[in-house]
Amino acid sequence: MANHSTVLPPPGAASDWTVAQNWSHYTPEEHATWDTLFARQSKLLPGRASDAWLRGLDVLKLSKPGIPDFEELSERLMKLTGWQVVAVPGLVPDEIFFDHMANRRFVAGNFIRRPDQLDYLQEPDVFHDVFGHVPMLADPVFADYLAAYGRGGQRAMQHDALKYLGRLYWYTVEFGLIAEPDGLRIYGSGIVSSYAESRFALDDPSPHRLRFDLARVMRTDYRIDDFQQNYFVIPSFDELLRVTVETDFAPLYDSLREQPDIPVAQIISDDEVITRGTQDYARSRASG
Ligand code: PHE
Ligand code: FE
Repeated sequence: MANHSTVLPPPGAASDWTVAQNWSHYTPEEHATWDTLFARQSKLLPGRASDAWLRGLDVLKLSKPGIPDFEELSERLMKLTGWQVVAVPGLVPDEIFFDHMANRRFVAGNFIRRPDQLDYLQEPDVFHDVFGHVPMLADPVFADYLAAYGRGGQRAMQHDALKYLGRLYWYTVEFGLIAEPDGLRIYGSGIVSSYAESRFALDDPSPHRLRFDLARVMRTDYRIDDFQQNYFVIPSFDELLRVTVETDFAPLYDSLREQPDIPVAQIISDDEVITRGTQDYARSRASG
């Protein structure tokens, strides 16, 4: 994830903000936290996570106990799709984030959450970044999508349009669902790395599940502090890559600026609704 300030890298980080992962410095407790999170999530995800994500977990050998060593992981990933995983101390500035991504370097937090933060933390840690994101990078089509997104980020900065491009990231990379032959599946890293949301996103009657539409997604607000109230469903990764690569976003950004944003949970007349949510969860949170 990126933040929006232009600041210098913290002491100890390189000019591209990377740091050594220092794998040998993790404590046994930190490795145990990974193992706890891993066991809990991997039990839940067969039949829920997309085929691509499950395959990535397997081919990257992420079930090996303990926090993964980024060097070992990068070696496997490099052979499959040309991606690497590099460590950063936390959020990095947008231009740094996009430059790494366009060059197939996935920036991952090297720290892990405390044992009292198993269910939620605001900053992406190594569990979210590696367990959530990295399996998808083993998929050749998704790997191309994310690299294209990095180049799209550089372009969006020139057009002052990160608000719109960021929503695409949010509703695909972080919270995306895909329609597979046996039903809806999760591929968004924010969902697969969350114990509660990996059930909520598929099973709960509250959220809307809408067919992905590029311009619609780019107009849609999102919440960062609670479960999503709408998820967008892609038909395939090929289709996601095709529509995002073939569309010139510059004129799209111009037209989006003329249109109002769409509040979370609002359905519009052009939507293809897959499941219409009750929004009960959102209402209970608003009144509670
Ligand atoms: N086609 C986009 C543009 O014109 C770039 C992009 C590709 C963005 C893939 C995201 C994903 O800016
Ligand atoms: Fe993320």
